[in-house]
Amino acid sequence: MTMATQTVTNHRRMLLSRLLDARAETDALFRTVRPEAMYDRPIAERHRIVFYVGHLEAFDWNLLSEPCGLASSHPEFDRLFAFGIDPVGGGLPADQPHDWPRLEIVNQYREGIRQALDRALGTEPGDDWDDGAGSFGQLLHIAIEHRLMHAETLAYMFHQLPFERKTGAAAARVHQGGPFTPEGVRVPAGRATLGLSRDSRLFGWDNEFEAHLTDVREFTIDKYKVTNGQFLRFIEDGGYDDRSLWTEAGWDWRAAQGISHPAFWVRRGNTWAYRSMFEEIPLPPDWPAYTSHAEASAYARWTGKRLPTEAQWHRAAYGTPGGREREYPWGDEPPAAGGHATYDPTPVSACALAASAFGVEGLLANGWEWTATQFAPFPGFRPNASYPGYSAPFFDARHYVLKGGSVRTAACMLRPSFRNWFQPHYQYVYAGFRCASD
Ligand code: AVJ
Repeated sequence: MTMATQTVTNHRRMLLSRLLDARAETDALFRTVRPEAMYDRPIAERHRIVFYVGHLEAFDWNLLSEPCGLASSHPEFDRLFAFGIDPVGGGLPADQPHDWPRLEIVNQYREGIRQALDRALGTEPGDDWDDGAGSFGQLLHIAIEHRLMHAETLAYMFHQLPFERKTGAAAARVHQGGPFTPEGVRVPAGRATLGLSRDSRLFGWDNEFEAHLTDVREFTIDKYKVTNGQFLRFIEDGGYDDRSLWTEAGWDWRAAQGISHPAFWVRRGNTWAYRSMFEEIPLPPDWPAYTSHAEASAYARWTGKRLPTEAQWHRAAYGTPGGREREYPWGDEPPAAGGHATYDPTPVSACALAASAFGVEGLLANGWEWTATQFAPFPGFRPNASYPGYSAPFFDARHYVLKGGSVRTAACMLRPSFRNWFQPHYQYVYAGFRCASD
């Protein structure tokens, strides 16, 4: 075996084992749902749970079967389970549980696909396994990260299920951090390198390319994410009823849906409780407040500030006083990969070790952060030929960029160039925010 073949073989083994790990993770997640809840729709905008059982396999199949030279044994399911994204424009899905195939049949479909794909991928001759566009390596990255993203979005979805519809126990959690005072951190004017360079040959989704420099003027950004305790004061001050704090669309949404608090909060008598994954607990005041973009923006306006732009967030996270940019806020060491032990965040002040060079804390993996930037292509954007529908349909001025990652985000997606996006009225993401000002 030549050195080159050896490297390709190792690379292939690594990708296949990551795909198996990702499958194990989504399988475990589906086991938290009680069988009688598999046809529930915990979030009105999303599909029923059973759809995602089929979707994760149909996606892999639609992506990999042709390059593997495989013929479908269930074209109808390949189409039925192909697309799993929220509709835009307020229309909600109206399908009924009986419109979907029986779980047993969907499980058989899943097993059939895994067997066929694994046989083909395990015996593929040792070329075309780099990470270049269209290679097997690239396709495998797409399958792996697509599945891991769903592992996170399924967690949000199962979070909204009533407790008695799921099974599992809360892991140990930290309710209180050390004492801390919210403060602003001044970030001097400088440059931020957004995006990923095609020359790097690293895997990235289409919206991460091309790398480009952005000038960022001096600004101030919160050292910590906004906490539940801080957000409570906004509620108590009548923030949800103050028209002047909301955009027109945000105000209309709030009124039409009767929104008066974050989706993770429940009113109990005259106090607030927090719905964690498996049980209700007293509202943890030091945890980041998970809100929609609209609620985050209203809060920011209430404080006289606003949400940071994507470029400002990037500079606060990865920039350094000397001008060099880091791979991660804390330095160049990647985060530990590994399973997700918990669904809960930690207090915003418990991330001191992960502070950025400018002293901003908790930027990665303790909740996504909404930015003021609409999701749009970087200069040099090209849709991924193997998955053209990943980003381009959402460059519609109706989605905002989120950065940073949550406790449920896979380590591979905690890279500086990764961009998440959601609609501004979506309350269910493990996403909070911090405020900024000029
Ligand atoms: C990137 C998280 C916004 O879930 O809507 C999953 C990811 N794309 N399947 C979503 C995605 C296709 C996407 N987000």
